[in-house]
Amino acid sequence: RENPLVLGIETSCDETGIGIVRGSQLLSNTISSSMEQHARYGGVVPEVAARAHLEALGPALTAAVDEAGIAVSDIDAVAVTSGPGLSGALMVGVGAAKALALSLGKPIYAVNHLVGHVGADILDDRGEPFEYPTIALLVSGGHTSLLLVRDLTSDVELLGETIDDAAGEAFDKVARILGLPYPGGPQIDKAAAEGDPTAIRFPRGLSLPKDMAKHRYDFSFSGLKTAVARWVEQKQDAGEVVPVADVAASFREAVADVLLTKAVNACNDYGVPRLLLGGGVVANKRIRELAVERTDAAGIALRIPPLSLCTDNGAMIAALAAQRIMAGHEPSTLDFGADSTLPV
Ligand code: KG4
Ligand code: ZN
Repeated sequence: RENPLVLGIETSCDETGIGIVRGSQLLSNTISSSMEQHARYGGVVPEVAARAHLEALGPALTAAVDEAGIAVSDIDAVAVTSGPGLSGALMVGVGAAKALALSLGKPIYAVNHLVGHVGADILDDRGEPFEYPTIALLVSGGHTSLLLVRDLTSDVELLGETIDDAAGEAFDKVARILGLPYPGGPQIDKAAAEGDPTAIRFPRGLSLPKDMAKHRYDFSFSGLKTAVARWVEQKQDAGEVVPVADVAASFREAVADVLLTKAVNACNDYGVPRLLLGGGVVANKRIRELAVERTDAAGIALRIPPLSLCTDNGAMIAALAAQRIMAGHEPSTLDFGADSTLPV
């Protein structure tokens, strides 16, 4: 089927995303976030996120359909994130998607959220999308994953992921230690601009030779977070002023370093000269800068989709389903559920 009109629903975390695509063309991408409701808790509260999806889905759907200039009955298929993510949040999207597909008499495609992030690249109209294979580094508040994508619709391999906190979560926790508000990523990024990234040498989790056999492509950020907490405590106990900018810059450097070291290692090990970035943490200035530096030095082509397609959204989910339709894949049967730990 050529260029199907697909509506995608994304509710795996705190963003309610509805996106509409025609083949690989982006028609609309409506995102409504419950981030503000989680701010006072310092992290996403699953129950609050699920309720917010329930309230936001209807208006987001109407807005996306209007913006795309279509009638909802025109769509050829519905796509929805079925995992991984927060169970309750996923269930709201899956339920809505099934109801929509049933009422319109259209096929439905269950999409893996992580693979969806890779699918976002297809909608980037700054030129041709990436060839395959490619390595994808996905970093957000909920995930930190390194993927080997040989074929977007049929062959995606998880090379590694975080064994504890996600990178964005680490930013949020360190921001809290430094007394900066939630979400902490943008705050740390801002504070770091005034700091010295070499002021403190924080640990690069799972980068030591002894870790590399088992965890070559895995990440760990909880030790780094603890190291920052200890360092800050010692300063406070000594009655000294905490140099927030230097801590932020040094922490940010440690995260960027370990992310890009492992991503470039994966490109080199697999002989894949392409790296795609995705996820909300990609907004980070130093991560973007170091990605350019390291890939340039290694002769690796780098793609970073626009931020609106890097953060969680429905268009990337629709895009992936459209690829599956064009590749002749069968739709999902209506009995799929929401799987918080869905493997790629
Ligand atoms: O992909 P995303 O919008 O949503 C979910 O994870 O659901 O990512 C949000 C995460 C938060 O942890 C936030 O602190 C982090 O991305 N983030 C950043 C920056 N902007 C957002 N982390 C580091 N630097 C930034 N500039
Ligand atoms: Zn995501």
